Amino acid sequence: MAVDLLLGLQWGDEGKGKIVDVLTKDYDIIARFQGGPNAGHTLEFDGIKHVLHTIPSGIFHDNAMNIIGNGVVIDPVIFRRELQNLDKFEGLDYVSKILISRKAHLILPTHRLLDAASEASKGKAKIGSTLKGIGPTYMDKTGRNGIRVGDLELADWKDRYTSLRDKHISMIDFYDAKIEYNLQELEAEFFDAIKVLKKLKFIDSEEYLHQAQKSGKTILAEGAQGSLLDIDFGTYPYVTSSNTTAAGACTGLGIAPNKIGEVFGIFKAYTTRVGSGPFPTELFDADGETMGRVGNEFGATTGRPRRCGWLDLVALRYAVQVNGVTQLMMMKGDVLSGFDTLKVCTSYKYKGKTIEHFPYNIEPENVEVVYKEMKGWKEDLTGMTEASQLPKALNEYIDFLEKELETPIKIVSVGPDRTQTILR
Ligand code: IMP
Repeated sequence: MAVDLLLGLQWGDEGKGKIVDVLTKDYDIIARFQGGPNAGHTLEFDGIKHVLHTIPSGIFHDNAMNIIGNGVVIDPVIFRRELQNLDKFEGLDYVSKILISRKAHLILPTHRLLDAASEASKGKAKIGSTLKGIGPTYMDKTGRNGIRVGDLELADWKDRYTSLRDKHISMIDFYDAKIEYNLQELEAEFFDAIKVLKKLKFIDSEEYLHQAQKSGKTILAEGAQGSLLDIDFGTYPYVTSSNTTAAGACTGLGIAPNKIGEVFGIFKAYTTRVGSGPFPTELFDADGETMGRVGNEFGATTGRPRRCGWLDLVALRYAVQVNGVTQLMMMKGDVLSGFDTLKVCTSYKYKGKTIEHFPYNIEPENVEVVYKEMKGWKEDLTGMTEASQLPKALNEYIDFLEKELETPIKIVSVGPDRTQTILR
């Protein structure tokens, strides 16, 4: 069986968690392939809102096994908190529904401290990191110093922990920016959380997924963040430290490229970004303020307000291409209800020339945005359940995007709840 992928096409926060939750009934396995607790996947059903950071978004369905793949970085402390939040769901036996790759790397308390010290030392050039220790943990992974989940099964893992921790402390001291911390407290919390982590099952996830494919199981690989935050293809250096694009599912789960089936690309009907970095269609006016307010655009992990702007087709075309998207899913269409006119960026003027591809550098001094204006709609979409109910102007918006992106839009989401999902 082929493995389907689900990815964000913008700067994250597209609504991937909701769609994974909606699609899970069709899959036997949901497998997260990269990122860590910098992600905040929000799911809503039965009037309750849930935010997941590390746990795959299939957890609330009985039919699916949830895998945390080798490409993910795990903070045991945050993970334990996530598990505790699941305790309120009576009958949800998460211990038997989550499997963790032995090859996933651990975020140590000192990784978080290093993240803070590094950001503080950057001053105005800071990335706007979520400060969850993501960058330093992936640096230790590629630097071949990291501690993996599978190491917890070895007798000497605490010695390795101590030597890495000591190295981190000398690195923290090296930064000009001084940060306050109580290592004893952090470590007590960390080692307690490790005990909880060890209650879950560790597996060789690439082998598990290989056997699952052979026996005809259906698998959905769940991405975190978005394509424009990809370490290679995003707006570097204002990116995260993993490959958020389709190729990341191959390396983050051990799935062969020829085994990939559908690639679901999730995007918002407008654009948001949290953290620093260029954002050509960003709005600083009442329209941007309306999107933020109506769309409740606050980070699910950090609570920071998200920057808002019009849809950017140059960026979206690029993301569709890099990921090989086969089906699009448009989120938060309902947030755009009420605008008289909508704008869509169709090309950039880059160093004076009109271009339609995403260039090396999208800093404002190089890029001027070219917009197409489209008619807005006034209808409230949140109670709609059928494609036939969608207003004419919204259908024109969708048709235009499909033509520009040469890819069908199969789902239009009209609210945060599971049920507010229209199939086309
Ligand atoms: P880090 O991954 O925490 O180091 O953050 C690097 C950049 O990616 C910052 O701009 C963050 O705001 C952004 N980022 C990381 N994770 C997410 C996410 O899940 N949604 C949106 N932005 C994110």
